[in-house]
Amino acid sequence: MTTAVASDAPAGCRPGAFGNATHLICRACGAKSPLGPFYACLECFGPLEVGYEYPEITREQIERGPKSIWRYAPLLPVPADIASFRSTDPGFTRLVDARNLADDLGLRQLWVKDDSGNPTHSFKDRVVAVALSAARELGLQVLACPSTGNLANAVAAAAARAGIRSVVLVPSNLEQQKILASAVYDTTLIAIEGTYDDVNKLASEIAGEEDGWAFVNVNVRPYYAEGSKTLAYEIAEQLGWRLPDQVVIPVASGSQLTKIDKGFTELIKLGLVEEKPYKVFGAQATGCSPIAQAYRAGHDVVAPVKPDTIAKSLAIGNPADGPYVLDVIRRTGGKIADVDDATVVTNIRRLARTEGIFGETAGGVTLGVTAKLINDGDLDPNAETVFINSGDGLKTLDAVADQVGPKITIPPRYDAFEDFWKGNN
Ligand SMILES: Cc1ncc(COP(=O)(O)O)c(C=O)c1O
Repeated sequence: MTTAVASDAPAGCRPGAFGNATHLICRACGAKSPLGPFYACLECFGPLEVGYEYPEITREQIERGPKSIWRYAPLLPVPADIASFRSTDPGFTRLVDARNLADDLGLRQLWVKDDSGNPTHSFKDRVVAVALSAARELGLQVLACPSTGNLANAVAAAAARAGIRSVVLVPSNLEQQKILASAVYDTTLIAIEGTYDDVNKLASEIAGEEDGWAFVNVNVRPYYAEGSKTLAYEIAEQLGWRLPDQVVIPVASGSQLTKIDKGFTELIKLGLVEEKPYKVFGAQATGCSPIAQAYRAGHDVVAPVKPDTIAKSLAIGNPADGPYVLDVIRRTGGKIADVDDATVVTNIRRLARTEGIFGETAGGVTLGVTAKLINDGDLDPNAETVFINSGDGLKTLDAVADQVGPKITIPPRYDAFEDFWKGNN
């Protein structure tokens, strides 16, 4: 099959609808197919991802762009005029120089990429913004998703902002904060009695039946996934256009991890950063660690598990990108590990106590795994390290509810305060 050129927009789409993206390519067999609402290879049913023919792109051109992911529009499957459409304009979150935490962990240099600063407080706003663009350009009218919570928040908010309908499907046992933080946008929220993997299966069935629906992480998944590359671009730009030595990333489906690697690779190929080795590490909760288990067993395929962890945002038992996560960590010399729920809570509190950042359970997983990798000698304490805090602790309050609270409750009198204060200092 011949490669399409940038101006070859899918039938019914305007020229340039997908920017410098030129085709879809199968991640399993490498067969190319045209751009469109496709996600599975016609040759082998493997997952598709977006391919590009990039023109020369300069740092100055990017730096002139908006302070959102749209500054990287030439590197995404979005039109050049993307910033003129109504979106939540996510991205350009803080890269925090985490000196207290670095000292606590015994690391020379640690940065926290704090994606809780996005409009709905998780990295999912990035992927949804790119999926929304694809849906719009393809003429799809309903934005939908199966979700472990954060994605539902991001889809509901993005659809509200764009003025289109949304339908979000979540497991019924989700944290109350995540359910409310979707429902408030007046989305059609449907709670499903089952695990995320049951919800995902139902979503695939609906996507096959309903015309005009963009299930962001199902039928427009190739475009959606590209949004996570912007984490890599931002980290590099915020470090002064260079790559870190090692990065620790939370893993559910594994999409974020594989796309951060894709982003770093593209920056090197485009000459936007100097070529250097970097190691990619993955973090899972022990109660849902199918990829970490496959890694330890030396397998290339991932056997599904039934999740049982407080890290509900990472509770995907049958991860779509599992084998590709294994490829990335083995190729870069990284590792994927897991920590139990008690360690997750300890590390939510550690991040809050040392850096003033309240991460959700996924952040507790990622920091817990970071500490474990250091103790086990897998992370180099002298190498420059980034870890991703992908969501906000205000959405998973139950995780810490029985561990933190007032030191004491007293009547509103100075003597009562004085008694307490003297007894504690
Ligand atoms: C806060 C948070 N971090 C990380 C992830 C993992 O993302 P991925 O499915 O791309 O591995 C999720 C997934 O829902 C999430 O909600």
